Amino acid sequence: MFDILVTKIFFTIILSQLIHPLWASHIPNCAFQDTVSLIDIQPYIDGSYEYDGVWIPANMTATYTYEELGDGTRIPAPSHVRGCACKLKQCIQLCCAPEERLDETLKTCVKRKLMEYPRIDTYTENLTRSVSDVFKKYIPQQRMPCEDFKILNPNLDNDFNILYENGTVYHVAMEKYISHRDFCLTPYWLNATHLTLSPILCVQKSFL
Ligand SMILES: *[C@@H]1O[C@H](CO)[C@@H](O)[C@H](O)[C@H]1NC(C)=O
Ligand SMILES: *[C@@H]1O[C@H](CO)[C@@H](O)[C@H](O)[C@H]1NC(C)=O
Ligand SMILES: *[C@@H]1O[C@H](CO)[C@@H](O)[C@H](O)[C@H]1NC(C)=O
Ligand SMILES: *[C@@H]1O[C@H](CO)[C@@H](O)[C@H](O)[C@H]1NC(C)=O
Repeated sequence: MFDILVTKIFFTIILSQLIHPLWASHIPNCAFQDTVSLIDIQPYIDGSYEYDGVWIPANMTATYTYEELGDGTRIPAPSHVRGCACKLKQCIQLCCAPEERLDETLKTCVKRKLMEYPRIDTYTENLTRSVSDVFKKYIPQQRMPCEDFKILNPNLDNDFNILYENGTVYHVAMEKYISHRDFCLTPYWLNATHLTLSPILCVQKSFL
């Protein structure tokens, strides 16, 4: 009797694991990278949510049973609601948690000296500069787009870059536009006294 029960429970778990990914809903016309987790946020009566000052209608939310890593790999996650926030306000990726910075040598996030989060310089199409708080100007998402990278140092000619308001970085020396999905920002010490918020440049992996 006990054996049967155990077997039954065992198969129920296996089955739900197999079926879940197939049943997992998603938001139409919304890439996973454009979503944010709405866990712990109370929905309004009509099923809409407010996230970081952005109103997300119910038809732009869905329940997910997975999360996606930077390289698109899906990993199972406890069932949670996500909303397509990046279709409503420009998103930008932060490499680490706010109290951390990316370490270029260790290739990982480390605790940073606690001081104000650096502000960000952005440019309009006609190159008008403005300095702003990244948490207000954008919807920040914490995600590393690659494992191997270099942090761009705006003081070096070779690294000089421009961040447009639409979240695209223009790398001047390479004459290359880099979409907000393909880089993240990290606090970075330019010198002993000056902390900036710098984009990383993903290093192409060699498949040779
Ligand atoms: C989603 O809901 C909003 C607000 O309720 C509505 O304006 C919009 O037309 C809906 N979009 C679709 C595709 O149903
Ligand atoms: C972002 O803005 C820049 C400058 O106007 C433009 O060249 C680039 O194509 C835009 N990128 C996207 C993804 O809209
Ligand atoms: C640049 O664009 C901004 C708004 O995007 C506008 O207010 C400003 O007048 C423009 N400057 C020039 C020199 O065209
Ligand atoms: C540190 O870098 C900033 C920005 O480039 C510069 O304004 C400042 O003078 C530098 N400070 C030192 C001590 O080199």
